Amino acid sequence: MKVLKSIKEFKSWRDQRSSLDIGFVPTLGGLHDGHLSLIKESINENKITVVSIFLNPTQFNNESDLETYPSSLPEDLSTLESLDVDLVFTPSREDIYPNGYNYKVLELKNSLVLEGKFRPGHFDGVLTVVMKLLNIVRPGNAYFGKKDYQQYILIKEMVKDFFMDMNIIALETIRETSGLAMSSRNKRLSKQGKERASYIYKTLSQASSDEEARNQLESLGLNVEYITSWMGRRFGAVEIEEVRLIDNVEI
Ligand code: PAJ
Repeated sequence: MKVLKSIKEFKSWRDQRSSLDIGFVPTLGGLHDGHLSLIKESINENKITVVSIFLNPTQFNNESDLETYPSSLPEDLSTLESLDVDLVFTPSREDIYPNGYNYKVLELKNSLVLEGKFRPGHFDGVLTVVMKLLNIVRPGNAYFGKKDYQQYILIKEMVKDFFMDMNIIALETIRETSGLAMSSRNKRLSKQGKERASYIYKTLSQASSDEEARNQLESLGLNVEYITSWMGRRFGAVEIEEVRLIDNVEI
């Protein structure tokens, strides 16, 4: 497995290859089984799989969320090595934002609801970094999780709108046996916090309305930010032990 730390190194590797061969999985690191399902699918469907690990500062609207984001590069690299990933790209912040954050990708409709409403600027940062990473990697196929369904829709539409020649593929959310959606942030929860967090999925799936889901979660003592139906799915954001968790289900 190659680990390339700069755009320059990456480009000289990339220029020898065809887009059609490359499957790409961008991540923030702190890898778990949700990431691994995307990576395994890419390995099955593409000749070459590239995984990026880049803790993108522009998508964190809250400084402490960025600082406490669980990440461990050595652990992530050994996980990726055991999966037979071909290349891991770990660019620096200077590499990705050489002139600061002067150019941004702004979406003016779907980025303003749900997560976008509660985390102003979040999707500007996500779309900007994903555009940069897709332009550097130039894959044939790129893989995203339905855990972040709004993010997936925005990326799919951006790629279509800017005539970027690649497929955006979405895969199902991977969950713990309790139903809790896997997330790097789960590492910050206590055992009891994790148990309480498992009610998010149960309630989103079983409630007959958004309001009922909100009431049920609040009566369990959870701090609900929003429960909203959108595009045939029910979305929720909940805070437990100062950890912000999101999930969504088809309804
Ligand atoms: P990150 O949270 O690391 O997630 C990387 C990819 O893994 C995303 O496509 C996300 O939807 C997917 N994923 C996370 N948890 C999952 C789960 N439980 N089941 C299935 N897929 C899951 O999302 C980001 O990073 C960033 O915003 C990024 C796209 C890398 C841009 O910085």
